[in-house]
Formats: sequence, structure tokens, C-alpha cells
Amino acid sequence: VIFRQFFNYASHSFTYLLADSETLSAVLIDPLIENNGQYVELINELGLTLEAAIDTHSHNSRSSAVEVLHHLWGCQAIVGSPNNSEWATRIVSDGDIIEVGELALKAIHTPGHTADSYSCYLEYKGDSLVLTGDTLLIRSTGRADLDDGDAGQQYQSLVEKLLTLPEATHVYPAHDYRGWAKSTISEERQFNRRLQVNDVVAYCNLMDELNISGNTLMDEVELPPPSPLPSSPAAATSPVIEKPKDIPAAPPAQDDTPPTEEAVPSWR
Ligand SMILES: [Fe+2]
Repeated sequence: VIFRQFFNYASHSFTYLLADSETLSAVLIDPLIENNGQYVELINELGLTLEAAIDTHSHNSRSSAVEVLHHLWGCQAIVGSPNNSEWATRIVSDGDIIEVGELALKAIHTPGHTADSYSCYLEYKGDSLVLTGDTLLIRSTGRADLDDGDAGQQYQSLVEKLLTLPEATHVYPAHDYRGWAKSTISEERQFNRRLQVNDVVAYCNLMDELNISGNTLMDEVELPPPSPLPSSPAAATSPVIEKPKDIPAAPPAQDDTPPTEEAVPSWR
């Protein structure tokens, strides 16, 4: 398996390239128009054939390149049902298999963020990964208050579909605002605060109570929690971190100016 993750800084979003290393067949999941050049570069460098471009859902906050890639490369343009796309060449339903060479990517319908939200699940050589779109984010979940979002459906998708995957399954979301890049089903089950609720009512209440007014993040509705405060008075007295004695001090930061020859520390 060839698996690559691309990050777009402007929209805090991920795109994934998945390919069969034997046949060199590849798919792009959640590609962005502004990053097309980067995908083309990697596909050409690795000698891959782009068989399909896939949207995990209709995006509010990013410009999908699926249609463009279809016209540019002649690859399939895949979206999930229900969908009235005029350009999609294939509309998948729950359980459908998207073949990538010898690999079988399973489409799992996980509505809630949008009605057409899907996750893509792959088992390979005793391992597994799932691309969760904006349904399950790392330590968070996608907002369910836009368009055809539905928090109740999202809870069912999370608990009945995604959390039933093997615990060791690697989790790759479509967005992250904190610098997380990867998780596992086990980690999310334990540490995702939004999954620590007992039932669908509690989840809907939790989502309802989130303060979303003025929030410009289109796929998530709350900013990350502040770093935990020191728990003991001893820890609260800001610890002194000693500089190793054998390393000379680096020059003071000069905003964004690249270091001059003189400013480069001698140990560099
Ligand atoms: Fe989204």
C-alpha cells in the first residue's frame, strides 16, 4: 500500500492518496483544487495511475477538485448517496467497494455532518485504516448544524459504524485545527470528549450547547480546550528549564528574517 497525507494550511484540511503498490493504481480522497499541482507531481513521480477521485462528503469549507481531476485525468469522480451531483461518474452507497488495483476500499455511510458523509475503510496485510471525512475528527467531531447536518444521525454513525471498527484501525480525518494528523479508533474511544456520552440525547445536547456563534471553522464548532493548568502549587511555580551547558546559546529571534551568516550559531 502506498499512502500519503497532504495538508492544506488555509482550510486546515487533509487530502489522502492511496495506491496499490503492485498495480500502481491510485485514488485521491478529498482533493483540493488549489493543491492539484502537488498531486500531479507526486502521481507522476511515483508512476501511479489515478483511477478515481473521491469526496467523503459535500464540502462547505473547501474547493473539491474531484470534478476537475475527472476532466483532467479521465478518472472516476466518486461521491456518496444521497447526492444529486451532475458530474459524478459513480455514486456509492453504504457497503460499496471501491477497487484500487487489488485493494478494496469500503464505503461506509456515516451521515450526520452532512447526509452524504462517508468514511472509507481499508484492510491490508493485517492492518486497517479509515478515512473519516468530517464525521470523526481527532478528539472531536464535525459540526452537525449546517445544511442537512443531523447530530442524532452523527451519533449513530460514530457509535454504530466507526467505533465498531477494529480498535487498532488508524484514523485519518479530513480536517484538523490543532496539528493532529492521525489517531486510532481505540484512542478516540478513550479520549475523544464528544464520545464520552451515554446516549444519543446526551450527544445532541452536547452538540447543541456548543457555542458556535461567530465561529468561522466550517467543519468543527469549538476551539481546542486550553492547556491544563498545573495541578500542584509546586508545579505552578513556573519550572526553570536549564539550558544544557555544552550547547552555545542560539541568537535571539529576529522575527521572520532568515539568519545571516554571522547569526548562524557556530554549532550548527
Ligand atoms: Fe465538511
